[in-house]
Amino acid sequence: LPPEPLRAALLAWFDRAGRDLPWRRGPEGGRDPYRAWVAEILLQQTQVARGLGYYERFLAAFPTVQALAAAPLEDVLKAWEGCGYYARARNLHRAAAQVAAQGAFPGSYEGWLALPGVGPYTAAALSSFTLGAPHAVNDGNVRRVLARLYGERAPSPAWVQARADALLDPARPGAWNEAVMDLGATVCTPKAPRCAPCPLAQWCAARASGEPTAYPAPKVR
Ligand code: ADE
Repeated sequence: LPPEPLRAALLAWFDRAGRDLPWRRGPEGGRDPYRAWVAEILLQQTQVARGLGYYERFLAAFPTVQALAAAPLEDVLKAWEGCGYYARARNLHRAAAQVAAQGAFPGSYEGWLALPGVGPYTAAALSSFTLGAPHAVNDGNVRRVLARLYGERAPSPAWVQARADALLDPARPGAWNEAVMDLGATVCTPKAPRCAPCPLAQWCAARASGEPTAYPAPKVR
């Protein structure tokens, strides 16, 4: 598939129809790494719709990484109440102390990956959002979108990563990653994909097959 027209189509769709989510807007319109980081940790195990309220509550309690680092762990766990998976709150608190001690948020993918609670997905998301680093996120949504686009019924993790890396727009890696997330969440959904408004429909092998939900094939257990 030709990457350039495909990137242009997906990014044009994202600029027009992408979700307006609070962690995508910094105080001055840019991306604030603290807000981006809190959001990604929250979204690791909490759905976007449920996460919105928790996100605002947490940021109201700890508006900066310095405030978070200085707070007693007890208060952080209290602010996390309802979200579950409290290891995330403990890691946020530990990582905040590291960032405050370093005096800045990480400046590379590897730097993000070194923070407690940040794995490869979150490091790819945060390094692309906050640094424009060319790292493609890879999760279940990305796997489904790419499997359908290429008509791959049994995509291996290595196949997904290779395709994701090759397609990533090097000029706008962060927007590309969020565009794929939004496409997977709102258009290329697991059970009832909406191919009519899909910006990638003209290139999509699964759509051409007439049976988009057959890609990827359900995992045999
Ligand atoms: N899921 C994980 N990260 C996300 C983000 N930045 N926007 C929307 N959904 C997400």
